[in-house]
Amino acid sequence: MIRGFPVMLDFFAQTAMRSTNTESIPNALEALKQFTTVVADTGNFESMRAYQPQDATTNPTLIIRALEQPRYAGIVDQVKAAMAAKKVSDRARAVLVSFGCEILKIIPGRVSTEVDARLSFDTQATIAEANAIIAAYAERGIPKSRVLIKIAATWEGLRAVRELEKQGIACNVTLIFSLIQAAAAADAGATLISPFVGRISDWHKKAGAQWATAGEDPGVQSVKRIYAYLKHHRFHTEVMGASFRSVEQVMALAGCDLLTVSPDLLEQLRAMDQESLLERALDPAASAPGQVTAQLNTTESLFRFAMNEDAMATEKLAEGIRLFVADGRKLDARLV
Ligand code: E4P
Repeated sequence: MIRGFPVMLDFFAQTAMRSTNTESIPNALEALKQFTTVVADTGNFESMRAYQPQDATTNPTLIIRALEQPRYAGIVDQVKAAMAAKKVSDRARAVLVSFGCEILKIIPGRVSTEVDARLSFDTQATIAEANAIIAAYAERGIPKSRVLIKIAATWEGLRAVRELEKQGIACNVTLIFSLIQAAAAADAGATLISPFVGRISDWHKKAGAQWATAGEDPGVQSVKRIYAYLKHHRFHTEVMGASFRSVEQVMALAGCDLLTVSPDLLEQLRAMDQESLLERALDPAASAPGQVTAQLNTTESLFRFAMNEDAMATEKLAEGIRLFVADGRKLDARLV
């Protein structure tokens, strides 16, 4: 009892602090930050100051979209001038790292930089590229503790994650559409995984499915299932919901370790003052009836079989890689 006393005092102090905080929370974005680390999902670093995210994520599509704006053209020009004698792949990496460095001037936490998606089925090339990205950041004075290397959740990508994490390089495993991908990433020791929401919803909508509430959204349900699995089996891997189409999807996952959200949805959350509607949906301590499965066996054959059984995950992973490859080629074309 005596040993528990300070803990109880701490509990009452925290409860009192929370109720005071609730009164002063100005909007739904700040309310969300009470439960979840908010991450900016954009290459447009000038738009992120207003939302004060902890971390930021980029991907090839977001970088290409940012480069379409004239204000970012200077980054490409600088890289072309400074690296005229280098290969296009070195220049492309330098552009991604330049965006990352600018983002890190604004946020206090980590930036995610994606490995060239053309390497998604080559473990050794992925490891080499991840090391080259970390080295390029180091040349600019950025320690690896501020960088997450984003790697697609293919079998080959996951083998690379296992090796990189052993080397002390933190990975964000992306394009996660199924529990088997999440389980295999956690088994590989991934620092963080990005289960996608919106792209799963898109697939089911295209197949004719409908649902009334965000809680019934198959993309939201996928993240909840993955979160419950990782917490129940006590993996250290952080879960970051990604690929959002609406604020309702974001709010339905309040409490997830991290959520990466585009600036337009961050703005909508910031404009919402109904913070009392924002309740914690995910909690590591709470049980999730019907959501927790036994620990999965993530051998190569079982991983591949489970993926093959899941048409949505198979199609969305393949499409996701194709789209990132296409945007990688667009970046190359700007650098020749
Ligand atoms: C972030 O890490 C993801 O790449 C991003 O959320 C994908 O979002 P999208 O499905 O809107 O492209």
